[in-house]
Amino acid sequence: MRTAALASALWATYALARPQVAGEFFTGTVGNTTIAGDNHGPDANGKYVIYGENIRANFIPYGASISNLFLNDTSGVERDIVGGFDNASYYGVDKQHPHFGGVPGRYANRIKNSSFVIDGETYNILGNENITPEHPNGLDTLHGGPGGWDWRNWTLVAHTHNSITFSLTDPDGDQGFPGEVVSYVTYTLGNMTWDLRMVAIATTKVTPIMLSSHTYWNLDGFANNETATALNHSLWMPYAGQRIDTDNILIPTGDILANQPGSVNDFWSSPKQLGANFSNPAIVGNCGYNCTGYDTAYVNNRQAPYDWRNEGPVARLRSAWSGIQLDVYTDQDAFQVYSCGGQNGSVTLKGTQGLHGVEDRPRFIEQYGCVVLEVEDYIDGINQPEWGRDKKQIFGPGDDPFVLQASYKFSLNDTEVGLLGEGSG
Ligand SMILES: *[C@@H]1O[C@H](CO)[C@@H](O)[C@H](O)[C@H]1NC(C)=O
Ligand SMILES: *[C@@H]1O[C@H](CO)[C@@H](O)[C@H](O)[C@H]1NC(C)=O
Ligand SMILES: *[C@@H]1O[C@H](CO)[C@@H](O)[C@H](O)[C@H]1NC(C)=O
Ligand SMILES: *[C@@H]1O[C@H](CO)[C@@H](O)[C@H](O)[C@H]1NC(C)=O
Ligand SMILES: *[C@@H]1O[C@H](CO)[C@@H](O)[C@H](O)[C@H]1NC(C)=O
Ligand SMILES: *[C@@H]1O[C@H](CO)[C@@H](O)[C@H](O)[C@H]1NC(C)=O
Ligand SMILES: *[C@@H]1O[C@H](CO)[C@@H](O)[C@H](O)[C@H]1NC(C)=O
Ligand SMILES: *[C@@H]1O[C@H](CO)[C@@H](O)[C@H](O)[C@H]1NC(C)=O
Ligand SMILES: *[C@@H]1O[C@H](CO)[C@@H](O)[C@H](O)[C@H]1NC(C)=O
Ligand SMILES: *[C@@H]1O[C@H](CO)[C@@H](O)[C@H](O)[C@H]1NC(C)=O
Ligand SMILES: *[C@@H]1O[C@H](CO)[C@@H](O)[C@H](O)[C@H]1NC(C)=O
Ligand SMILES: *[C@@H]1O[C@H](CO)[C@@H](O)[C@H](O)[C@H]1NC(C)=O
Repeated sequence: MRTAALASALWATYALARPQVAGEFFTGTVGNTTIAGDNHGPDANGKYVIYGENIRANFIPYGASISNLFLNDTSGVERDIVGGFDNASYYGVDKQHPHFGGVPGRYANRIKNSSFVIDGETYNILGNENITPEHPNGLDTLHGGPGGWDWRNWTLVAHTHNSITFSLTDPDGDQGFPGEVVSYVTYTLGNMTWDLRMVAIATTKVTPIMLSSHTYWNLDGFANNETATALNHSLWMPYAGQRIDTDNILIPTGDILANQPGSVNDFWSSPKQLGANFSNPAIVGNCGYNCTGYDTAYVNNRQAPYDWRNEGPVARLRSAWSGIQLDVYTDQDAFQVYSCGGQNGSVTLKGTQGLHGVEDRPRFIEQYGCVVLEVEDYIDGINQPEWGRDKKQIFGPGDDPFVLQASYKFSLNDTEVGLLGEGSG
């Protein structure tokens, strides 16, 4: 039985997650309370549409995922700039499960040895990565386990013309994690902005919580007629002077490394194309064993206290081809960049993407065809107590909720030739 205090805490959590927009209408149920509002159902593909000024997006309950994000480029052509599938029903059918645009949870990224210790007690959770004959359950846990939060249909609790809120109740013991967690995720579109607000509350036991958004970007809508990759996108991360060191299966070693100026991981001293250093041997193995590219958690080194909405951005991704520029603002202290080296042409583009009618361009996401940007906390911080991340990653009943906020601000920037290393094209 939930106590009145707990119900009120849940309500407060929901209130924190929900958009603060005057004149909004809600529809849905929270606890016992039914909130009446205008009811926009899903479209024929099972997707919910919201829109802001010069921006439109589709979301689905599966993983509380973004499935489409439309903007007009500098030529006035509409581009769908995120990876996803054509319809909501296919997300649970596709065997590859690329974590397409969803919310990895209850603990994003990797957990070493699928275990952690809280208050002296060791918890073993389900593994799902690096499966070998000796380790049939995997050597580690990625994105919350084989049935993590982005494998589930969330509950739609609110939907207005410019915002949508999903909720998930993750039961005690699911994937091996202790205690129930209740989460609300709200997405809001503004004037060429996409805001994310995630809250999660541990209602019964002390447990790790670390959420993220796992969106695949191609700012050309996969329609760049000169390249199928995103390697010509430029990336700038002005606060990313350090990164979390990982071993050859991408598990943190405990070390935090400096990103030396001019090195393959230097995206802080100036913008650089994602592919700028791909001919340097140092890039091989940079994202795990024999892997070329990036699958790396950079540290957002900002001097506290900081105003995350106005200081920053922590990252700028830009394609000179479409002119679309994305500035990422967030309250989170780490930022994972994955350059899609694992893509191998097995994921079909959506009908809203790609070059139609060009026969020599397959309608698939090719290797390096995208980049995943994940706002989050220090990966596997629960197994690195010396990093001091407990207040950001360990939560119990009565604690403040886990909170993640981010604002993705889009603009058009058709600068042809960029700064040093950004190249042309
Ligand atoms: C929910 O409804 C039940 C049964 O009507 C009631 O006992 C309980 O107090 C309600 N809870 C809240 C939070 O209103
Ligand atoms: C792109 O421009 C067209 C034509 O002006 C307009 O109808 C459409 O809504 C725009 N797309 C977005 C996402 O704003
Ligand atoms: C949903 O999309 C998938 C992948 O594009 C496609 O194979 C399938 O036929 C679609 N299903 C429906 C009902 O449209
Ligand atoms: C999740 O929702 C999709 C439709 O959006 C549906 O096809 C699928 O069966 C649902 N899965 C579960 C486990 O309820
Ligand atoms: C491509 O990647 C998918 C997903 O990881 C995998 O299932 C498939 O076997 C790969 N195909 C090839 C040819 O490597
Ligand atoms: C890894 O987890 C297993 C239980 O699944 C445990 O027996 C073992 O001691 C752990 N190893 C390390 C190095 O923590
Ligand atoms: C949107 O932002 C642009 C510039 O950033 C501004 O010129 C425009 O007036 C804004 N539109 C609305 C409806 O606020
Ligand atoms: C790509 O498209 C642009 C604009 O439509 C055109 O100017 C250019 O010639 C095309 N490039 C190739 C290689 O087809
Ligand atoms: C390393 O990867 C390359 C392709 O990227 C492949 O050709 C080569 O066989 C791999 N080497 C090993 C030792 O796995
Ligand atoms: C546009 O991109 C160029 C090249 O990276 C950069 O120097 C400039 O600051 C950007 N403009 C804006 C307004 O962000
Ligand atoms: C990486 O690329 C940048 C931009 O072209 C260049 O300045 C730098 O020297 C390169 N670093 C390495 C290690 O190749
Ligand atoms: C990608 O950028 C390089 C410079 O780094 C440039 O030489 C090349 O033409 C660009 N290619 C495309 C397709 O934009």
